[in-house]
Amino acid sequence: MRPLIAGNWKMNGSRAAMAEVSALAAAHPAPGCDVMLCPPAPLLPIMVEAASGTKIAVGAQDCHANVSGAHTGDTSATLIAELGATAVIVGHSERRADHGETDAAIAAKAAAAHQAGLIAIICIGETEAERDAGRALEVARSQLAGSLPAGATAANTVIAYEPVWAIGTGKVASVADIDEVHSALRTALADLMSAEDAAATRLLYGGSVKPGNAAEIFAVTDVNGALVGGASLKAADFGGIIAAAE
Ligand code: PGA
Repeated sequence: MRPLIAGNWKMNGSRAAMAEVSALAAAHPAPGCDVMLCPPAPLLPIMVEAASGTKIAVGAQDCHANVSGAHTGDTSATLIAELGATAVIVGHSERRADHGETDAAIAAKAAAAHQAGLIAIICIGETEAERDAGRALEVARSQLAGSLPAGATAANTVIAYEPVWAIGTGKVASVADIDEVHSALRTALADLMSAEDAAATRLLYGGSVKPGNAAEIFAVTDVNGALVGGASLKAADFGGIIAAAE
């Protein structure tokens, strides 16, 4: 399975940051994995332009479930696709927490992404309290089942397991914990999609992935890439993670 290394710029970046896109493309002209950057929505067309002719794909960080309408401040998957992006992250824990997004809302967004021809990168992951209570697997399975829309396939869907307590904290889940959750997710997918799609759907790990810890994470059987926040902002750091995946 070809790994995907996706960078989530969150609410960071600017026109000037397109220099990082050029630097990344120059350093990795023919990467041995899929590479994607997800900037804030207003930067999508600017990054699509900056990445044109390179192997860097562009994704959005969120979309609305509807195609158009009275939804001030929201962006439709259709427009994201029209701007040249090929994917959209849905259900990131920061959106679940800051905007009260439920599994059902996330499944509707992922369905809208599919309808628009976009890959949906569906994020799931437990909080520290849930892990401490021994509920990490139960939460991951239930978020997966609740957030995966009908019609999800290995081609149009990527799952990102991101333990909330590992995001932006420098705390990384142990290789044993990542292995346990990812293999449980692989098994759970088989109840939600065809056996072929369940086996071929990419499962990303996210949460404080850095050049220095990426190789050991990518060595885990059911880890097929990473969703990277902080370390995706600088071409040198992100490039180090791409090199580890290669
Ligand atoms: P981080 O963020 O790499 O900065 O921990 C990961 C994410 O939220 O996708």
